[in-house]
Amino acid sequence: MSLSGQVAIITGGSAGIGREIAVRLAKEGASLVLAARSAERLEQTVEEIRQTGARVLGVAADVSDPGDLAALVDAAVSEFGHIDILINNAGIDCYHHFHTLEMEDILATIEINLTGTILLTRLVIPHMLERRSGHVINMASTAGKHCPGFASVYGATKAGQIAFTEGLRGEYLDRGISATAICPGFTRSGGIYDRMVAATGKTTSSLLGSTTSDAVASAVLKALRTKAPEVIVNWPPVRPAMVIKEIFPRLGEKLAMLASRKFSKRVADAVEANEKSD
Ligand SMILES: NC(=O)c1ccc[n+]([C@@H]2O[C@H](COP(=O)([O-])OP(=O)(O)OC[C@H]3O[C@@H](n4cnc5c(N)ncnc54)[C@H](OP(=O)(O)O)[C@@H]3O)[C@@H](O)[C@H]2O)c1
Repeated sequence: MSLSGQVAIITGGSAGIGREIAVRLAKEGASLVLAARSAERLEQTVEEIRQTGARVLGVAADVSDPGDLAALVDAAVSEFGHIDILINNAGIDCYHHFHTLEMEDILATIEINLTGTILLTRLVIPHMLERRSGHVINMASTAGKHCPGFASVYGATKAGQIAFTEGLRGEYLDRGISATAICPGFTRSGGIYDRMVAATGKTTSSLLGSTTSDAVASAVLKALRTKAPEVIVNWPPVRPAMVIKEIFPRLGEKLAMLASRKFSKRVADAVEANEKSD
């Protein structure tokens, strides 16, 4: 698929899944604007991708800061003139026992994962409307389809991203703008899952499975081509279990808890143990 002449903003483009997507979009000829907070790591990724011949701009920005978001969009438009693709990928996890979560951690998770997605999209859509063309990709999660215990705030933000994507499609599809929610399962070479495995010494159960950042990037490219509403990326496939949950909620919940609860609790316990040792 050629993305030659297309301009993509990727938040969280300096590492993990976002970095993988950036590399793959650059290979297809897209010009990139990558955003992340740490300027040093961002510049390193930008330089690596630039070496491949792609046009890449790095903008240090915190997606929870509305001023940074406005500056990011201005920088993209003044460098490349237009925006064709927005990938709202920046995100943080929030695996923890809910009743001991700090208020500021709850707020940060919502502001980065959900408010940032919504505000940045609000700033980009008018540019897409001008050209009657564009695609918004929201990096949600299977946690937004079925939220595991010990991740209720994270899952709430991901469910919010999925609902937001549906709303965008309902409003803008007939004006040339598409939107897709990508829902990866636990993703190897995305930083979040790798850090969980390192912290607990355990991987997810085979019932729950996992995926890779490479598979997630392939799903993004496919979604840009097919304009799919929602893509779940995981092995084994989890959509049948989600259908069961819609028809038989109690049975679906039992299956989901069997598959995910032990691992989620281990992660939450490890996070809390780490906090206590600090
Ligand atoms: N990995 C998984 O298992 C998995 C599964 C399902 C969904 N996801 C979703 O996929 C996305 C990426 O996950 P990942 O595992 O690739 O994460 P990651 O390796 O930790 O990378 C996160 C990226 O986002 C940036 N970022 C974090 N907070 C930011 C902020 N406030 N403003 C701007 N940039 C910010 C980070 O750079 P700075 O820290 O320098 O800002 C980094 O570039 C997230 O939305 C996550 O929820 C991940």
